[in-house]
Amino acid sequence: MSDKKASNQMWGGRFASGPAAIMEAINASISFDRKLYAQDIRGSIAHSEMLAQTGIISAADQEKISHGLNTILAEIEAGTFEFSTRLEDIHMNVEARLADLIGPAAGRLHTARSRNDQVAVDLRLWVKDECFRVAEALKGLITAFLARAEEHAATVMPGFTHMQAAQPVTFGHHCMAYVEMFARDLSRVRDAIERMDESPLGAAALAGTSFPIDRHQTATALGFREPMRNSLDSVSDRDFALEFLGLAAICATHLSRLAEEIIIWSTPQFGFVRLSDSFSTGSSIMPQKKNPDAAELVRGKTGRVTGHLVGLLTVMKGMPLTYGKDMQEDKESVFDAAETLDLMLAAMTGMMRDMTVNTAAMKKAAGAGYSTATDLADWLVRTLGLPFREAHHITGRAVALAEDKKVGLDRLSLQDLQSIHLGISADVFSVLAVQNSVKSRTSFGGTAPSEVRKQIRYWKKRLDKA
Ligand code: ARG
Repeated sequence: MSDKKASNQMWGGRFASGPAAIMEAINASISFDRKLYAQDIRGSIAHSEMLAQTGIISAADQEKISHGLNTILAEIEAGTFEFSTRLEDIHMNVEARLADLIGPAAGRLHTARSRNDQVAVDLRLWVKDECFRVAEALKGLITAFLARAEEHAATVMPGFTHMQAAQPVTFGHHCMAYVEMFARDLSRVRDAIERMDESPLGAAALAGTSFPIDRHQTATALGFREPMRNSLDSVSDRDFALEFLGLAAICATHLSRLAEEIIIWSTPQFGFVRLSDSFSTGSSIMPQKKNPDAAELVRGKTGRVTGHLVGLLTVMKGMPLTYGKDMQEDKESVFDAAETLDLMLAAMTGMMRDMTVNTAAMKKAAGAGYSTATDLADWLVRTLGLPFREAHHITGRAVALAEDKKVGLDRLSLQDLQSIHLGISADVFSVLAVQNSVKSRTSFGGTAPSEVRKQIRYWKKRLDKA
């Protein structure tokens, strides 16, 4: 009761012990930045080794520090470490425990360093590791697509524009479109890794330090290509996190488009694919239903990933150089986006691998809607030498006639076709069937099975090196 009194009646609310508790709650990041414990300890060990080698601390103190940090690592991994909100963040939690374990030598670890460069290096290491995880996951997804593409290089399906059947394509070709998209995502990950491969450690608070540190040594020890060149930039830059969120948002958008297609394809109306039981659920009330929940969640979670990108861009946009506590808000965005993207990639890879493709339904739909009309027009141009515009007009009349007779273009008789243009010969039927239409599109990047197989070979060779 007296505690309640001590807190301000107007704004104290649930914070029983007054302003100090509110400050602690808004200030602390340990509830989420504990995720950085391994990177934090790794960074500290590298820093202490450098301090010893440059003679800034003694070898004996360094040994104690390393030993203590490794003990802490083991404690955290065993779940016996006690995290404290009072100690604010992972950096101070580790350092306080180090003092418990090794005494005054612990106080030497923070020489020529600040939490500003410390947190920057920790998060960079974490994001870099995550980028490698995403790259592996993307390769797995691409591999799943390549297998489906190979299997269905000649399976015809309708290609759509405006959600309307436009021209027949092959399912393999459609799969390879996603290979291109995810391969671009993979190259974005590689680019981002390349740019974030610089160490901010040793920038200290913002201005560098008067101690004779060796930033090249710590950069190398932590697996970075080189140290960042400007100490102000080192502590204030979060581009690496933004780039990660950017590539994650683009990749999530690709996954969402795929999810949307799978949702449409698996409706009874389309029936192009059937999801495996592992990636769908039944309805609790309607026994006939099989819902594409995993695909819907991938589509839904995309909003969350994109939200994190917008969130961090908004945090950073008003930040004067160099560090401000606002930047502590970078972590939850990055962690949640990473966890979400990993899950989305795993779910889509599983779905692509497991789903059953209904080739008969695809083929039937491919032939519907006069999808070979362009083939007829092209034939008129190629065989009769007509200008394309005229061929387009004649084809329009053929479609109208077929509509009248309620048949497909390839079911019109030769007389029917000749009633529209006398020059049309029986050879035209060779392009009116969907299979032939698809086979004829051999232009580079086209949908002909021969071309699709070329694309598959290209990516199989490349993926090994990607
Ligand atoms: N927890 C802080 C963060 O994540 C660490 C850096 C604190 N630096 C400072 N000058 N208060 O940003």
